[in-house]
Amino acid sequence: MVENYMVCNCKQVSYADIANALDQHKDLSNVLEAFEDVQKVTHCSTGCGGCHQKVLDVISQIMMGK
Ligand code: FES
Repeated sequence: MVENYMVCNCKQVSYADIANALDQHKDLSNVLEAFEDVQKVTHCSTGCGGCHQKVLDVISQIMMGK
């Protein structure tokens, strides 16, 4: 599986960082809520914002895989 590639270059947030942050997030039904939690923990997508869709894609991918 894809593991440690950088999803957010501005804040140096990797796929694994997002996966770890998601582990602390209990409700896996709402991608946007999960995104907010992941953002609080990792600060991903708070720089240029260009990775926003990529972060959402990774989150939904991980959530669907659980
Ligand atoms: S790449 Fe994530 S905020 Fe710029």
